[in-house]
Amino acid sequence: MPAVIVVGMQFGDEGKGKITDYMAERADLVVRYQGGSNAGHTVVVGGVEYRLHQVPSGILNPGKICVVGNGVVVDPSVLIKEMDDIESRGHDVSGLRISHAAHVLMPYHVRQDELEEGSRGARQIGTTRRGIGPAYTDKYSREGIRFGDLIDEECLRKRLEPVVASKNRLFDRLYGASGFGFEEVYRAVLAQARRLRPHIADTARLVNNAIAGGKKVLFEGAQGTFLDIDHGTYPYVTSSNPTAGGACTGAGVGPTRISGVVGIVKAYTSRVGSGPFPTELLDEKGSSIREKGGEYGTTTGRPRRIGWLDTVMLRYAATINGVTALALTKVDTLAGTGKVKICTAYRLGSRTVTEYPAAMDELARCEPVYEELDGWSDEEVAGVTDYDRIPASMRRFVSRVEELVGVKAALISAGRDRRQTISRFEVF
Ligand code: GDP
Ligand code: IMO
Ligand code: MG
Repeated sequence: MPAVIVVGMQFGDEGKGKITDYMAERADLVVRYQGGSNAGHTVVVGGVEYRLHQVPSGILNPGKICVVGNGVVVDPSVLIKEMDDIESRGHDVSGLRISHAAHVLMPYHVRQDELEEGSRGARQIGTTRRGIGPAYTDKYSREGIRFGDLIDEECLRKRLEPVVASKNRLFDRLYGASGFGFEEVYRAVLAQARRLRPHIADTARLVNNAIAGGKKVLFEGAQGTFLDIDHGTYPYVTSSNPTAGGACTGAGVGPTRISGVVGIVKAYTSRVGSGPFPTELLDEKGSSIREKGGEYGTTTGRPRRIGWLDTVMLRYAATINGVTALALTKVDTLAGTGKVKICTAYRLGSRTVTEYPAAMDELARCEPVYEELDGWSDEEVAGVTDYDRIPASMRRFVSRVEELVGVKAALISAGRDRRQTISRFEVF
């Protein structure tokens, strides 16, 4: 039963896109299970960069079925633009399938996200302003429009008309903002629906049949464990479940069908938006890692906050996700940094804690306890694709991370390109 979940173990941007693309070479299906166009997954193949927001990162491997699962909220304008871009660069998107139960992210969700963020003042979450929170809110309040609703045009009119009217009342009365003309919204979504209709399918059945037939399925999470609506640093989180359990609900697959969970860990930590970040570096060291690692948001271009690796958080993420193997990325970015630090515990008042605190106000007061390791140089890592050839200091870093997190690293990524990946054991 080769069905493996790829999950971010930090605050997103761990390199899920790169690792999914690498692993997709051996997969038959790649399935996105949550999030929306807030995700920005970068894949580099043969020096050419692709930034994917809605389409699974398996799309650049020919002949794969790429599924946008029921747990995803899809902005059709972003999806179509991305499909056109991928096609214009010589790739085939005919293998793309969209769940009939995935929710359609509408222009009024984007407006609502902007207005809500604007009204939060100092309590801003720092959302990507892609309409994610409002789209999931409508899903759970049963006001959402699903891809299956786009097939019958008259039914769509009946479902959409009262929703647009209610959004317009909200914008006007709460924010004094202008609304949307119904016909305009309806006509735009119909045009998008006609383009996307051939791709809409019962994807839960498709994925389950593939697993039953012995096919290899890769589930690609967006965001990361600490942005999870249940397990993250609430309220500074996204509105879905990036954690491994989200793959089951977000794709319609039972937990007994999952054979492994690969946790993606960047060799240091980054975070975009507000919220607690115990190992954050506000000094020159943080800036130099940001510049070297190109740590600017793939979706919004915002500079990412940078910090040392935090194994207190990683241990928690390994537990919550049931991680069976790690993929450690961006070890090359730490090259030439001098000594490398790993947070092994927190100091909380007079106590030293090794377990991730359940209360968010406690996390905000935690001071990291560091262990210092020898670093490595750019020359030592350049072009290395064999684990036995990596510098001894980096091997010690990898072993120490494995020991502290309690999970072995199957993959080590030492560069942006698909080829710059070291495989130690098979995960499929
Ligand atoms: P994702 O959201 O988890 O898919 O990650 P992003 O794509 O948003 O951010 C990761 C960034 O690091 C991208 O620019 C990747 O091309 C890049 N990247 C991924 N793995 C490596 C690596 O091992 N080394 C370097 N230097 N860059 C990497
Ligand atoms: P990938 O898949 C990093 C962050 C936002 C904000 C919070 C809520 O590329 O790792 P939202 O727009 O989801 O309501 O914003 O979550 N965020 C991400 N940070 N990587 C992402 O995706 C993110 N998607 C959302 O910055 O703090
Ligand atoms: Mg990203």
